[in-house]
Amino acid sequence: MSQLCQGSTSSQEPEDPALLSRLDEAIEEHRSQPGGLIPVLQIAQGIFGYLPLEVLKRISLGMDKPFTEVAGVVGFYSFFSTQPRGRYLIRVCLGTACYVRGGKRVLEALKRELGIEVGETTEDKLFSLEVARCFGACGLAPVITINDDVHQRVKESRIRELLASYRSREAGKE
Ligand code: FES
Repeated sequence: MSQLCQGSTSSQEPEDPALLSRLDEAIEEHRSQPGGLIPVLQIAQGIFGYLPLEVLKRISLGMDKPFTEVAGVVGFYSFFSTQPRGRYLIRVCLGTACYVRGGKRVLEALKRELGIEVGETTEDKLFSLEVARCFGACGLAPVITINDDVHQRVKESRIRELLASYRSREAGKE
């Protein structure tokens, strides 16, 4: 397992004043930079775990950009999510190398084990499932990420065991 920086781990309350002031700092820092909207959205998603409507409105006001522009950027990039995510975000690479080396089968096994479709979150809010296009580790396909952990040469037959390791990690925290 290796590490890949992807920001958020779980969804946070968008009303938290401490988190909102971190967002305001990011807006302040990037508001006059050309192309500053995307880094602010990335930071916001890193802070809240997703991009709730209130946060998008605050960014639109703070960056002095029309809401439609902010929402358009969010809709364009699959990395951004306007829905709360589970504690663990699973992203399955379906880029060419991963697809031909079993990525689709890995995805099907995850859907089966978790009982959810792509874009959904399990009822216990532990796992969310998404697909992605190439993590740049094609030689080790198929690849999936779970939060910042990168799992390479993933086998369909190991999915249950892999999920169990995250479930027991969570159980250990209680
Ligand atoms: S195609 Fe999956 S890592 Fe490149």
